[in-house]
Amino acid sequence: MISFLQAIWIKSRANNKDAATDFFKTVDIKKEVKSAYLHITAHGVFEAFINSKRVSEDVLMPGWTSYTKRLRYISYDVTDMLTPGENELKVGVGKGWFFHDVDCWGTDELKYDEAALMCTLEVIYSDGSVDEFPTDNSWQTAKSNIIYNNIYNGETVDLRIKESKKSKAVEISYMRNHLIPFEGVPIREQERLQGVKLIKTPKGETVIDFGQEITGYVEFTAKVPKDTEIIIKHFEVLDKDGNVYTENLRGAKATYTVISDGKPFTVKPSYTFYGFRYIQVIGLKSVKPENFTAIVVHSEMKRTGYFSCANELLNKFAQNVVWGQKGNFLDIPTDCPQRDERLGWTGDAAMFCRTAAINFDVKAFFDKWLNDLEADQLADGSVPHVIPYCNVYWSGPDGYNAAAWSDVAVIAPWEMYVAYGDKKILSDHYKPLKKWVDFMINECRKNGGGKIKFPWTTGGYGDWLSLEDLDREEGVGVTDVGYISTAFMINGLKTLIKVDSILGYKTDKSYKTVLENAIKYCRKEYMKDGRMKQETQTAAVLAIIFGITDKPEITMAQLAENVRKHGRITTGFIGTTYLLYALSAAGEDKLATDLLLRTEYPSWLYPVTKGATTVWERWNGIFPDGRFANAGMNSFNHYAYGSVLSWMFRRLAGICPDEDEPGYRKITFSPAPDERIPWVKASVDTVCGEAASYYEKTADGWDFEFTVPAGSKADAVIFGKKYRLKKGINKISVKA
Ligand code: BGC
Repeated sequence: MISFLQAIWIKSRANNKDAATDFFKTVDIKKEVKSAYLHITAHGVFEAFINSKRVSEDVLMPGWTSYTKRLRYISYDVTDMLTPGENELKVGVGKGWFFHDVDCWGTDELKYDEAALMCTLEVIYSDGSVDEFPTDNSWQTAKSNIIYNNIYNGETVDLRIKESKKSKAVEISYMRNHLIPFEGVPIREQERLQGVKLIKTPKGETVIDFGQEITGYVEFTAKVPKDTEIIIKHFEVLDKDGNVYTENLRGAKATYTVISDGKPFTVKPSYTFYGFRYIQVIGLKSVKPENFTAIVVHSEMKRTGYFSCANELLNKFAQNVVWGQKGNFLDIPTDCPQRDERLGWTGDAAMFCRTAAINFDVKAFFDKWLNDLEADQLADGSVPHVIPYCNVYWSGPDGYNAAAWSDVAVIAPWEMYVAYGDKKILSDHYKPLKKWVDFMINECRKNGGGKIKFPWTTGGYGDWLSLEDLDREEGVGVTDVGYISTAFMINGLKTLIKVDSILGYKTDKSYKTVLENAIKYCRKEYMKDGRMKQETQTAAVLAIIFGITDKPEITMAQLAENVRKHGRITTGFIGTTYLLYALSAAGEDKLATDLLLRTEYPSWLYPVTKGATTVWERWNGIFPDGRFANAGMNSFNHYAYGSVLSWMFRRLAGICPDEDEPGYRKITFSPAPDERIPWVKASVDTVCGEAASYYEKTADGWDFEFTVPAGSKADAVIFGKKYRLKKGINKISVKA
């Protein structure tokens, strides 16, 4: 078998700068073909065609990995695409994530500045002989008619350019020992949404509303005179006067431009994507929404979780969380899809991954991303703030190590294990998990000059965007960061010890000692007699969830008291994820549901009342008076606060996997019915089959119906009473 690695990296002789580069090769097929494969990768993102037909439905390939250490190549079966005689191979390569020319990216080791291609067409004939057509200087290149492309700024296509002058490709000796076969899941176009409304804004702008914030791009049809430029600007929200608002995209221009050749055309971008609900159309006299289609693009993931209930706002919120996941699972879990960021922020993924694994099958998606984490982790165990690593300029001296953020090395493998029950997830990602825990311990050792001194850090993002004060717009949260870092270190140590026992590894007893001391330290430093010294919701939440408190009833009462006092959430990224779980642990389901059902600012449902179709980055993205939070950080599609959806499945609907028999092999159905939500219905398509919970209010109590998957065993706990369940459907009526 001929190896893909015989191909040579090639690029264009002329630097095409902002334009994409097209690569060409004509191959002669003389014999009957048994099978044929195109093995391909690029510096940038590619679109490959054989005889003008797209080789695959995948887009933006080879996607985004930690490029300097891992670059995926993909092998496409193209057997049916070849014809006897001459066949034309064309591969376009755009800049994709490979070239960093947007403000927010710092410098890093990627020094390439030009598109490059490496591929082989491998043809196996019926007579058993094999031909290989690898990239080399027999290929030709030309400047594409996509004369500008940039993942954040968008794309310009000049339809007047039919055929650029071709010249011989140049062979180059770019790195190749980091090439790996494809892993993870491909990125594809998933759904198409027609424009629903044409809007003329007070400023006179022509806007199309797609009715849903998505990630992807727009396809549209037009016929305009030659040389006409049509410009499409993508954005998320109209301002309070109803005009186009793009400030929150920061440096991202998020524009698509077409220059017409005078003929009717249907176009869509090739090498970019946008996060948007609206587009502004410039340069087209008659704009008909039905001529514009928004194409939803994300990683291929099977939908597994469904939630609905008697409260329409909550249903809309649940849908918004799902849309947030679609919009931010584009090869890597991103913070947001629209502004000049779109990075694999570790903290966001750590907080959302449990919910993500309920909504969709994300096992392969996270497996690949965690391999990037391992690749980007430093020898001392340091974990970057964003993965794939790029030195985001504001994230500290070097962009590594932040409490709760870097803890994704522990949290994500664990959540994937609980969701899918596969020990391999733990063994595959064990090394980085342990290295991260060791890193925190070593930092403590450094702090104490050889002796362990907590906390390992007081820096970082803390309870990011917490809202103790209603006008608060700062980033770093109020809760003491030293406490947060120690709390997550405790979680890391506990998880490591559990994972060791699951995998049959021996845990050095020093870890248990550090764990005990970390807990003791927290109790002494941050607590007094079970009460948190700092009166924040997040402080108490972490003490409850991570088992730090030795007087849980007191800490729980303090949390409930705090929530009652405020009558609302004050938590940021960290506390929000665990808040309702902590209230449930405190026996305060009703209070948890109060928070969930609240519609006034701030709350989960407040953005829904403001017309949100995805989850906002901040509680105050739009203040009640219509004012936007500062444009420097105000995304309307950030999934982090959507993490509460997991509580809606696991506690409100009550489908709770048991971590001792993970992958839903054992389920405890322990719903928390609340009269204000007279019926709830949820299901999760688990690896054991479908688990479902439905209940409704009756005249004198509640009727429950639990579906136990064929491969699971299950109990139910309703209002404190335990029921043994059989496989299949179980009906229970309870008087209350
Ligand atoms: C991102 C966040 C991220 C944070 C770090 C922001 O710019 O959008 O979601 O976690 O920086 O604090």
